[in-house]
Amino acid sequence: MAETEENIEHPSHKRTCMCRPLNIPRTKPTPEVLNLLKDLQLTDDNLKQYMKLLMTDIRKGLARATHPTSIVKCYPTYIQDLPTGRETGKYLALDLGGTNFRVLVIELEKNHFEMTSRTFVIPQDKMVGSGKDLFDHVAACLHVFIKEQKLEQECLPLGFTYSFPLVQEALNKGIIERWTKGFKCDDVLGRDVVQLLQDSLVRRGIQKNVKIQAVINDTAGTLMSCAWKSPYCRIGLIVGTGTNACYVEKLTNAEMFNGPNKGSGVVLINCEWGAFGDDGTLNFIRTPEDIQIDETSINPGKQIHEKMISGMYMGELVRLLILRCVKARLLFGGRDSVDLNQKDKFQTKYVSEIEAQKPGNHDRCKAILENLGMQNLSDQDLQNVRFICECVSRRAAHMCAAGLSTLIKKTEEKRITIGIDGSVYRHHPYFHYLMMEKMKVLVKPGVVFDLMLSEDGSGRGAALTAASASSSIY
Ligand code: BGC
Repeated sequence: MAETEENIEHPSHKRTCMCRPLNIPRTKPTPEVLNLLKDLQLTDDNLKQYMKLLMTDIRKGLARATHPTSIVKCYPTYIQDLPTGRETGKYLALDLGGTNFRVLVIELEKNHFEMTSRTFVIPQDKMVGSGKDLFDHVAACLHVFIKEQKLEQECLPLGFTYSFPLVQEALNKGIIERWTKGFKCDDVLGRDVVQLLQDSLVRRGIQKNVKIQAVINDTAGTLMSCAWKSPYCRIGLIVGTGTNACYVEKLTNAEMFNGPNKGSGVVLINCEWGAFGDDGTLNFIRTPEDIQIDETSINPGKQIHEKMISGMYMGELVRLLILRCVKARLLFGGRDSVDLNQKDKFQTKYVSEIEAQKPGNHDRCKAILENLGMQNLSDQDLQNVRFICECVSRRAAHMCAAGLSTLIKKTEEKRITIGIDGSVYRHHPYFHYLMMEKMKVLVKPGVVFDLMLSEDGSGRGAALTAASASSSIY
């Protein structure tokens, strides 16, 4: 059957998505809107330039001499072994990295696992308060979960997925470098995150139930989780509230790695590519709206790359670009509304919802805009708004594609699987295909790659890492 809009399988339903021909819909805006949004359309030359710059920054992050002043930090993670599929045992996992926080209990059996989880909310005041309050809240949620799951009589190894920049000094020791994604508990910058959690466990009286074995980034969790299933997995990517990637690097290139060589000769590198551009490197492709988003954010000057790509900013970018078109009187006859002028009123999930409709069907787009106080919308207005969404998601997917192509080149692998997770990748109807399409242009001919959705990456990845740390591998 020919692939049409109706029978496209969403990537989240497939474990592995190989290159497949697909007509990604492209909405026709008015020529004036097309012209006004030219700076959002990255050419292949732009992307090739971006790749060169990213490669330079990755090399700077890896090398001892240049690491201190590098922007893309490329932190060694101390994970040297990928899963074998033979890990066993019962583990707890914590997943802290956004407004939702998850606690999990996982039982690994050979090539099989069982998992129960519960999601808790991190209240806004805990995201920007003291570190003690944040980790006490984490411990309190863990306590609730331990009681619910009747684990009070057990002492389980715990893998902690902590998805913020961390200078790792061991598998179970990491110094908090900065906060991102709306978090700001700056009193604990420079402190060991494992010790902070341990102190909170003690205050809560549950230290007897838990042994913190490993702290890992969500990209590493995703890579580990996919490597458990695919022997070719060497890269992990997150495109969610934030964005970042990790990859398997030779120990000889990872000059900042201080640990013993456990024999594999490789180590996972947490690139922290969200910070790419913090020194102005990406100015050649930034738009006035990218600058505005940064300037009005909780962390100005930081995470420039992330602010051009990830879910925390995507909806807001669309809103600002709508206003750009309104000011030029190319949209809504120059009218706007109170809500449309309010920061963060256009949610990122709207981008996926609008683009998920068949081209020509603007029902969802109309309802969203009406909800934002806009009336008397013409068909062309709705088409233009959809086009703005497409520009923003397409640019994000193309930047991720260029980033991944750079990492593939860095690994020198000829066949490689990339494990991916994150709400943008999961929910946007074409993100996967946009990335595939562009990677086919950017990756060296002859290299075979595929993108694999990670199922519950962070949790299982943390458990697998805790497993190898506690050597429960037979
Ligand atoms: C953090 C990374 C994380 C990424 C995806 C970024 O803001 O700095 O550590 O991997 O978000 O969650």
